[in-house]
Amino acid sequence: MRVLVVGGGGREHALVHAFCASPLATQVFCAPGNAGIEQEADPVAIAADDLAGLLAFARREKIDLTVVGPEAPLVAGIADLFTENGLLVFGPRRAAARLEGSKAFAKEIMDEARVATGRYTRHGDLAGALADLETRESFPLVVKADGLAAGKGVLICQDAGEARAAVRLCLADRAFGEAGGTVLIEEFLSGPEVSLLALCDGTRVVPMAPAQDYKRIFALDLGPNTGGMGSYCPVPGFDAGVAETVADDLFRPVLAALARRGTEYRGVLYGGLIVTEHGVKLLEFNCRFGDPETQAILPRLDSDLLEACLATAHGELDTVDLRWKPEACVSVVVASRGYPASTSKGDVISGLSEAAVLPDVTVYHAATAVHGHDIVTAGGRVLAVSALGTHFAAARERAYGALARISFAGMQSRPDIADRAVRAEAGETSLFPVDWAD
Ligand code: GLY
Repeated sequence: MRVLVVGGGGREHALVHAFCASPLATQVFCAPGNAGIEQEADPVAIAADDLAGLLAFARREKIDLTVVGPEAPLVAGIADLFTENGLLVFGPRRAAARLEGSKAFAKEIMDEARVATGRYTRHGDLAGALADLETRESFPLVVKADGLAAGKGVLICQDAGEARAAVRLCLADRAFGEAGGTVLIEEFLSGPEVSLLALCDGTRVVPMAPAQDYKRIFALDLGPNTGGMGSYCPVPGFDAGVAETVADDLFRPVLAALARRGTEYRGVLYGGLIVTEHGVKLLEFNCRFGDPETQAILPRLDSDLLEACLATAHGELDTVDLRWKPEACVSVVVASRGYPASTSKGDVISGLSEAAVLPDVTVYHAATAVHGHDIVTAGGRVLAVSALGTHFAAARERAYGALARISFAGMQSRPDIADRAVRAEAGETSLFPVDWAD
């Protein structure tokens, strides 16, 4: 099979790495890729949002399967374009990708499916949103821009003043452009979050192993939000039985509601879950693999990912049985100086091969580029160092041991990735406020 992966981050490196290990793959391309990806796959100098360019490439190169990493091309309709041109693609069509592309649409479907999620109101005009806020007595609450806002469109507001400023930012200042032309004012839910990704082939839902990610830049979950500073998989206490229950209670009803509207979901569906005292609720859906969750999930996958993606795209998930290694995986993200407020480029990265040769360690590249004989930083999140271990403490030690071999000017990483999993595994704490047996 000739495979094309669309995207150029750590998630896409993890996908490429898994596809290259498949006996089904004869050639793997990645557009646009990065410095690490091009050590394993053929880089293609086409941007992930250049749909016409990607289509022309896929036709010319007779690509058998295109796997789309980021949400933007999916929301823009890459799966429709490829399918209409007779090309097989892994990823939902535009109508289904709206589960991520429009938070208001996602909420509408969740309501229709009667699944557990936060209460919300929706506003397209500032006066209406401000009038709604006048009636609110309970804070914090959450203001969300409806559309894609590069992870910046969710604003947690501690009081009415902050909430008014947030709706003004979206609806009057248009800080997120058209993405903020509609806002949701949503109930604030608290509890640990879990990312549950599931392969969906139109009728079947196969949950993957759950993961947790770390959104804040600094240890102890301090500082501003980022694209994700690390992740681990699996999640102690959230076992396969819980994942199946969540698939039954939250995923399948939503896909059925979509199907009643004539929309089929094929690809990976990522449920951003929150485990409250009242049970598991949906925070949001994404229509793609998570980043950096994928860098912690895939090292544990003991089945052929390419075969699974192919079966998903063909609507034949009944032929797939995902198997998982018993080991834990910890993935630590390395970011560049100034991230997330700014990013630094062109810093020479050393120690990559010294880290990558360590047993059970994989160094996934994200924002990296080749400059002469060097590999240099090329943006915010630069690498993800993933390691497997027989338990979380071993995986964490291995990941941080590998990370210690890597250096570049201004590099940043969190020192506490998977600490809570280590404590939970040791029986010191429980990650969740619920007893699943109830
Ligand atoms: N880890 C968050 C995301 O992929 O959106």
